[in-house]
Amino acid sequence: MIRKCLFPVAGYGTRFLPATKAMPKEILPVVNKPLVQYGVEEAAEAGISEFGFVTGRGKRAIEDHFDISYELEHQIAGSGKENLLTSIRDLIDHNTFSFTRQNEMKGLGHAIWTGRNLMGDNAFAVILADDFCVPEPGDIGVLAQMAELYKQFRCSIVAIEEVPEDETHKYGVIAGETLKDGLYRITDMVEKPAPENAPSNLAIIGRYILTPDIFEIIENTEPGKNGEVQITDALLQQAQSGMVLAYKFRGRRFDCGSIDGFVQATNYVYENIYKNGE
Ligand code: G1P
Repeated sequence: MIRKCLFPVAGYGTRFLPATKAMPKEILPVVNKPLVQYGVEEAAEAGISEFGFVTGRGKRAIEDHFDISYELEHQIAGSGKENLLTSIRDLIDHNTFSFTRQNEMKGLGHAIWTGRNLMGDNAFAVILADDFCVPEPGDIGVLAQMAELYKQFRCSIVAIEEVPEDETHKYGVIAGETLKDGLYRITDMVEKPAPENAPSNLAIIGRYILTPDIFEIIENTEPGKNGEVQITDALLQQAQSGMVLAYKFRGRRFDCGSIDGFVQATNYVYENIYKNGE
């Protein structure tokens, strides 16, 4: 059972400037809910109740979002607006939220390693909130799908999707042996390869289940692409000495790290979720 989920949220969000000058990009709303809250809800659906955040300077609003706002609740108590706080209040009441800071930007691997004390000695999930995932109608979310696989295989798992060849340079890209439809045992993975160096068009998206030995592997991983400690490189080590799976998830992903993806996600949520009163 996966109980904990880590959110690396220290990044600057420069693509959204000036919106992200004084506000963390994870707090940007997709319609009426901050991006990061969708990620927390997806993890909660997968049975997770302990949330850890690797934050940085200027990210206080994330802590405030996952805390009670007494003044606000007092102000709107008894008014028709009370129910607008129900979703976040439920999350606060049923889960714990812990925060630690990454004081240097040294890559995703380093960010995950910074969260080691929050995650402890059991397998845990990682969500990159920028990758906003929605299930197919009636289906379970991506992380819940991966948690089910973890019960069976007990190893690290990354979510993947097919991307156009000219986009491999934006992602970690895997090669693997097919275990069954949509499930691969990883044999190679490369961080942000040019199309001619990509081992396939199967790109890692921001959902991971990691076994805790990953922390020691990260400690021994040299900086890679862009001089940063890459989780992709650490996972390749783990794959070579044991087993790491790549799972082609059911559902749809929006790249909310880009303006285009963010606008598409906003339109999707407005039409398919918000208007239905969810
Ligand atoms: C990170 C990872 C990359 C992965 C991507 C998914 O890159 O390093 O392997 O494919 O997330 O969104 P980033 O988007 O942070 O540059």
